[in-house]
Amino acid sequence: MFCGDPTAQSLKIDVMRQWVDSEWLPKHQDTDSILLWAADAVVKDDIFERYSLALPGGFRFDGWDRLDCAVITPLYKHDWAQKLTHRMGAFVYRFSALETGEKVEILVMASHYSDAGHMVIMAVVPRTFFQAWTVFEGECNRLAYALEHGPQVVIIGGHANSFVPTVNWEDVVLPEKLKSDILDDVSAFFTKGIDVYKRLKLKPFRKLLLAGVPGTGKTMICSALAKWAIEQGYVVIYVSSAHKGANDPYGSTFNKIEHALSVAAYSQYPSLILLEELDAYLHAEEKALVLNVLDGNESSINGKGTLLVSTTNYPEAIDERILKRPGRLDRIFIIPETRVQEDAEKMLRQYLGEVWRDEHKALVPKLVGYPGAFIREVAVYALTQVAYDNLTELSYKLLERSFTNLKDQIDARDDFLTQRVAANGSSNGKHEPEVI
Ligand SMILES: Nc1ncnc2c1ncn2[C@@H]1O[C@H](COP(=O)(O)OP(=O)(O)O)[C@@H](O)[C@H]1O
Ligand SMILES: [Mg+2]
Repeated sequence: MFCGDPTAQSLKIDVMRQWVDSEWLPKHQDTDSILLWAADAVVKDDIFERYSLALPGGFRFDGWDRLDCAVITPLYKHDWAQKLTHRMGAFVYRFSALETGEKVEILVMASHYSDAGHMVIMAVVPRTFFQAWTVFEGECNRLAYALEHGPQVVIIGGHANSFVPTVNWEDVVLPEKLKSDILDDVSAFFTKGIDVYKRLKLKPFRKLLLAGVPGTGKTMICSALAKWAIEQGYVVIYVSSAHKGANDPYGSTFNKIEHALSVAAYSQYPSLILLEELDAYLHAEEKALVLNVLDGNESSINGKGTLLVSTTNYPEAIDERILKRPGRLDRIFIIPETRVQEDAEKMLRQYLGEVWRDEHKALVPKLVGYPGAFIREVAVYALTQVAYDNLTELSYKLLERSFTNLKDQIDARDDFLTQRVAANGSSNGKHEPEVI
């Protein structure tokens, strides 16, 4: 029985659509708009407070207002911490571009469509604003993740929203003292440091730098720290690679750091921020802003503590104002190439896995002085040869050949790596890679 009422047969979304046609579009006739399905996170009230990321086209989110809308019951959801979360209704979201002065209004409509509380959310978006809107929506999702505080690392400014870290701290091979110093520093900050900072009336914000030539395991250390931190129940935020790409319109902009700090502050959990390639953020236009953050002049620091672990392959690109000035970077760890046979052997065993045989030990002395990434490559290269040739085991000869091949490749390419080892004199001198 349809009782002759056409709306009785309509889906909630059709009713909403009718409202858009009769109430919104007539007032926005000059704009070519599209109707989009939108993510729950865009009506998650509590994430907007901290929204700061700049959007493509230089747009910023200015805020939202509720519109009168007869077809949606204005309703709030709340969580058990007495916070309002999702809001239902019709809203206008305002964005503006500082440089051009352009203003954009988006209609967002959110409603439950069943008594079970399922939501339908749609947005009327000008075609020209589509890209900016999708970024905005993506960032709302990230913020929502940070809030929910699951086993993922929240990514700022990358393609994916999050990832689950899998590297174990035990798998990182470093001089023992250095390794325990790093983990002690990180864990002591969260367990004891916060109180000390507070007693001294300082913001609980600590900044570490891992510096070293490429391939020594800095990224690996970050991943292992991320896994460790998540196990402790902390929020982990990864500021994605500094390079501009199709999926990342920002590149190494200060805005990403700012946004990461906001997410950390907003999460209300102890937070670990991983910032790779710190040097890439120190370009002329924005250096002052980064210094400002490192100085702690950023209002949104999380009371539960924020630890920034940054990395660089080019410590010389980080000027003295940062490296030497007390307080800007609290501690710098130099991550070295392998220094002792014991560590080289540990890595070789780790990467050869079951294929390892004691005779492979003979290669170990030659590996000292190389970064971990090189040792891993030697193992991977050898293992692929075993697989390609259907061999049952890896002979020492084949392993050595892998080493020589890779070494020759590096030398022939006059690789950046070898130049740096020589230029910095940072190897222990025992088994330095040759430089042509
Ligand atoms: N110290 C190390 N211990 C164990 N493996 C290492 C180490 N350094 C490098 N590796 C291996 O080389 C890979 C690349 O190293 P990476 O962490 O990207 O170096 P970096 O970030 O310093 O350039 C790692 O994923 C790991 O497999
Ligand atoms: Mg790296």
